[in-house]
Amino acid sequence: MPSPDQLAAWQRLSALATRPHTDQTDRFARYTIELPGLFIDFSKQRIDHDVLAALLDLAEQAGFATARARLFSGATVNVTEQRPALHTALRAPAAERPSIAGDVVDATLARVLRFAAAVRTGEHRGHSGKTITDIVHIGIGGSHLGPELAVEALTAGRAAPLRCHFVANVDGHAIATTLRGLDPARTLFVVVSKSFATLETQVNAASARSWFLERVGSLTALRQHFVGITANVPAAQAFGIEEHAIFPMWDWVGGRFSLWSAVGLPIALCAGPDAFLGLLAGARAMDEHFLGAAPDRNMPLLMALAGIWNYDFLGATNQVVLPYDQRLRLLPDYLQQLEMESNGKRVSLDGQPVSVPTMPIVWGGEGTNGQHAFHQLLHQGTSRFAADFILVANADHTLEEHQRWLLANGLAQSQAMLLGHDDPDPHRRVTGNKPTTTIVLDALTPGALGALLALYEHKVFCQGVLWNINSFDQWGVELGKRLALPIHDQLRGQSTAGQDASTAGLVAHIRARARNAH
Ligand code: F6P
Repeated sequence: MPSPDQLAAWQRLSALATRPHTDQTDRFARYTIELPGLFIDFSKQRIDHDVLAALLDLAEQAGFATARARLFSGATVNVTEQRPALHTALRAPAAERPSIAGDVVDATLARVLRFAAAVRTGEHRGHSGKTITDIVHIGIGGSHLGPELAVEALTAGRAAPLRCHFVANVDGHAIATTLRGLDPARTLFVVVSKSFATLETQVNAASARSWFLERVGSLTALRQHFVGITANVPAAQAFGIEEHAIFPMWDWVGGRFSLWSAVGLPIALCAGPDAFLGLLAGARAMDEHFLGAAPDRNMPLLMALAGIWNYDFLGATNQVVLPYDQRLRLLPDYLQQLEMESNGKRVSLDGQPVSVPTMPIVWGGEGTNGQHAFHQLLHQGTSRFAADFILVANADHTLEEHQRWLLANGLAQSQAMLLGHDDPDPHRRVTGNKPTTTIVLDALTPGALGALLALYEHKVFCQGVLWNINSFDQWGVELGKRLALPIHDQLRGQSTAGQDASTAGLVAHIRARARNAH
């Protein structure tokens, strides 16, 4: 593949970016798309007919259709790890799954649903015969962010038979706070780690095991209280989890794309087996749209193209995620991993330095809270950004006045970003013309959430294709992990010889100050 900036469409887009876009009539009709339960409005993007045509040409010249077919068919799209990326197979009917995903998908899903139902109904109990009341999920990154987002989104404000707690950070405050007040006889630990080697998860799981054993004192009892979800079965067994309590993960599903696999167990436990099935069905509906819709009506492709236009041509270095729904408060965190770990890359598929910038910085927070914090910068600051507003038409409560104010604020913010305010006082002036997309869900059902997350997954994939990078590896995270190992020992007293001056000095300072140094 030639580098993106060598494509004729890229050059055309560079030229188009230097002229104001022509404001067409019928923008709302032209630039909105509706699927059952999910509506998307691109009409506040700085896109016109010519820009859209050139963006669609770019997708074609970059080989989008072939790349999409390769993704779904199980081709080796993750070239540096020589793996397919088959998260879509986890929600596809058996007949449409590539053979590598074969029967294991159905068998695993059936186990997840069965186990979740058994815990929820009290059929699976703790060692002393008491029912389980609390789930402690231990995992980080892709083994944490999706499940926590989905559990919170689908259980907020609803009566649930199980309380779900998430521990990711190696900071002991996280697990200590979580365990305080829990009854070990009624607690189920779910240890999730594809590699079963991630330091944070290992340290947290070991502390959870010690906490349990100190209180219950029986290794046999532990078996009723720990399940593992991993591709590394021997390591989970060595930790003390019995084989029958280990749910599989596979090389062909990347961590940040894994909530559709057994990693979604907490969703089935806490929101219920039907909710998990609904989530899968919603994602599948988005897969079908992505596969079947014409490029100019294809939501994920258009989101990707709008993102590339904003970032590479209009200089919007920030991608702001603004869910106007408290239940989606964790969406920005989830998208930070999905987008930045996937596409924060500086070499192309063949290992050459990329010739165009890739991946804006993703951040955000729930509306309306952000309006009283960082929106000042969005309206009057000098950093360029594009924003996604996510609105949900129907709430799960009956406080209609709250809901109307919430939605009115979401719409008003995107309107302010579009129109600005031409005040004679420069301190009060708001420039406007900031590109935003608004996504409206009818309701935050499992299906709508599944479709929303799959929409972003496919957007990320499309952008990887257009930038000609590998969206499915994450080598950049390894260096820091490696460097932490000797520093850990140096904090315990080992010599810092060979360290850079700052690190050696900081280690010495912390050791001098820390109560438990040595
Ligand atoms: O360090 C990054 C990362 O490898 C992510 O890609 C992954 O989601 C996370 O760590 C957790 O990995 P694991 O599931 O193997 O514990």
